[in-house]
Amino acid sequence: MDIDRKAFLDSLGRAEGVARMGHEARADALESHMMSELNNAIAAKKYPTAAEVEEQIETHPYRAGVGFMMVSRSGEHVKKLPPMPEKPMLADFFRLRFADTAYHCLQSANLATKNGMSEEVVLACLLHDVVQEIMRTDHGWWGAQLFEPYVSERVAFAIRYHQTLRYYADPSVGYEYPELYRQLFGGDYVPPPYIEATYQMVRKHKWYMEPRMVAVNDLYAFDPNVVVTIEPFEDIIGRHFKQPKEGLGFDGSPVAHMWRTIIRPDQPL
Ligand SMILES: [Fe+2]
Ligand SMILES: [Fe+2]
Repeated sequence: MDIDRKAFLDSLGRAEGVARMGHEARADALESHMMSELNNAIAAKKYPTAAEVEEQIETHPYRAGVGFMMVSRSGEHVKKLPPMPEKPMLADFFRLRFADTAYHCLQSANLATKNGMSEEVVLACLLHDVVQEIMRTDHGWWGAQLFEPYVSERVAFAIRYHQTLRYYADPSVGYEYPELYRQLFGGDYVPPPYIEATYQMVRKHKWYMEPRMVAVNDLYAFDPNVVVTIEPFEDIIGRHFKQPKEGLGFDGSPVAHMWRTIIRPDQPL
């Protein structure tokens, strides 16, 4: 390993410091300096660069933005989906369709409950990522659109902008930039200008803390011993989610087709 002589001497207090050290202390200092350099080198190497992430585009048979239910990322064939009730309710989608995202969203809503969040923030946490079953790119906007006819403006705001706030730390609430994002987007990734502009707008908005609390409770470090189901959230859903009597997908709303797409993703047209 190449040793940066100046950095090493600085860490020992320059030449005077070294002169005062015994032979063994010097060897120890050199070893610990090399260990820390090695750790730094490993840490720096841990994340791909944004350019390396872009290089990976042509190594997959699908695009990164495609929804989880739409393509198998393991290479295995997709499975037939269970039938849905004629008039499906939100909980039916959690049980029968949101296979890849339900667990993460339930865990986040559970954490938000434990952290004493408002019912609207808990609901936003419960719903925040499920649209990723059909589309991942700009999922904050897609998700808000999917739920907008059925939730309050504040809940839709929280869902829409949680995506943007994930890229920006807020030490006042202990939110740090996620390690996962360094892996996913590259260690040197800079969000595009529209995300930065959205952040500036949301940061000044009176509802800033709504999407921020979704980001704070956005939980990736799951406890596998904690099994969370949709049942504990049925009351909150009952109070804050307007279930259409015809069932989601069949109420003639401007987003009904999105729900039908989730119900029948094997329909070719
Ligand atoms: Fe998200
Ligand atoms: Fe999330």
